[in-house]
Amino acid sequence: MLGNEVAVIEVDRARLEALRAGSVPFHEPDLEPLIGSGLAAGTLSFTDDYSRAIPSAEIVFMCVGTPSGAHGRPDLGFVRAAVREIARQVDGNETIVTKSTVPIGTRDWLADLLESELATPADRPAVVSNPEFLREGRAVADFLHPHRVILGSNDEMALDLVEQLYRPILEQSFPGGDGRRPALVRTDNPTAETIKYAANAFLATKISFINEISTICEAVGADVEAVALAIGMDPRIGPEFLAAGPGWGGSCFGKDIDALVSTATEHGVEAQLLQATRDVNLRQRERVVDRVRRELHGLLGRRIAVLGVAFKPGTDDVRDSPAVHVAERLREGGATVVAHDPIVRRVPELGDVEITDTVTAAVDRADAVVIMTDWPDYAGLDLAQVASVMRGDLIVDTRNQLDAEAVEAAGLRYAGTGRPAPTPRRALEL
Ligand code: UGA
Repeated sequence: MLGNEVAVIEVDRARLEALRAGSVPFHEPDLEPLIGSGLAAGTLSFTDDYSRAIPSAEIVFMCVGTPSGAHGRPDLGFVRAAVREIARQVDGNETIVTKSTVPIGTRDWLADLLESELATPADRPAVVSNPEFLREGRAVADFLHPHRVILGSNDEMALDLVEQLYRPILEQSFPGGDGRRPALVRTDNPTAETIKYAANAFLATKISFINEISTICEAVGADVEAVALAIGMDPRIGPEFLAAGPGWGGSCFGKDIDALVSTATEHGVEAQLLQATRDVNLRQRERVVDRVRRELHGLLGRRIAVLGVAFKPGTDDVRDSPAVHVAERLREGGATVVAHDPIVRRVPELGDVEITDTVTAAVDRADAVVIMTDWPDYAGLDLAQVASVMRGDLIVDTRNQLDAEAVEAAGLRYAGTGRPAPTPRRALEL
């Protein structure tokens, strides 16, 4: 759509076939139509053959996964395999762009690996680090309208080339571009790599901060929603990522913090704040389990409905999902867990936990309902209906989506995160 020809290499046969047919093998709004129009226009193709895609390319984006390996260090197995294949095909005209989140210092490792695999050392391509800031569920919009584009390299010509590729986005000159031009940061490779980790670590720390404040709010009878709103009015703090809840999850924050802590440790730096961010997050998940156990006077034999399985709304991703963690812990405690999610249908870690098609089926005969993911569907729950089919009366609203008074009016007991219970006192009137 930005006027380029793109060949995507996908080595998984099933995924390749799906993509060729225009189907995206995961839930990501707006992506399928984009792929469909690229396929129809002939500007987008999918292959598993490096020799078809690489020699004709000017720029090769490395987007393979970097899952957590031993001691929190990212496992670079997929990167290594891709680099070896690329090295066999390059003819000296390519620039490699690392989109994958790679450990700080990877450029040097990658350059050495390339050199050792190249048939002709003179063909060594330049490497530009171009970290990714997309959010799942908003990936297309975040890609087209980023806050900033980060390019890191010691090769000015390679930086110019990749900057040129980003020009329609930097100038928002493509059809559908808006007036907000993103910033461009040109820097070196290790700085670009560090920016990625620092951004995710900061966001995770901001959430752990408000979650810790929510614990204090519960102890002193304050309302974390009002606290977050008021502190967020200070532009130095900002309103985003201050929603208290059951802790952050997903495939990025935990993995990236582990990687940054492990890089710091390798360099003799103790990353105390990042470790605390992680610890607070785990504690926040456990606080949900403790709350349910306390309110139900034990978990053994209880029937608990968990609403929301994805790590956040807008995605079917359950990697490191707080909902999965909490459901597992409730089961370990002897409860029967029945879950609902608008799009997730199966979670291998949850074994035989039933994931129902309707909320009513999940809350039927439940002693407690625990809302874990802030899907908009749950904010509009029919509370009278929920009360009529539940066996008990406890609603644990970890995302503070419901009106506590409405819950009580339906004859149910309300437990939010960092909110005074059971009847909320309005701490801030706007
Ligand atoms: C995150 C970053 O936001 C992206 O910028 C980054 O590109 C991406 O990781 C990545 O490294 O690939 P994502 O994992 O899609 O994106 O999810 P977020 O929207 O950041 O949410 C992460 C977790 O924090 C979710 O579990 C969410 O429920 C939780 N969260 C978020 C809160 O508990 N409170 C908040 O106020 C915001």
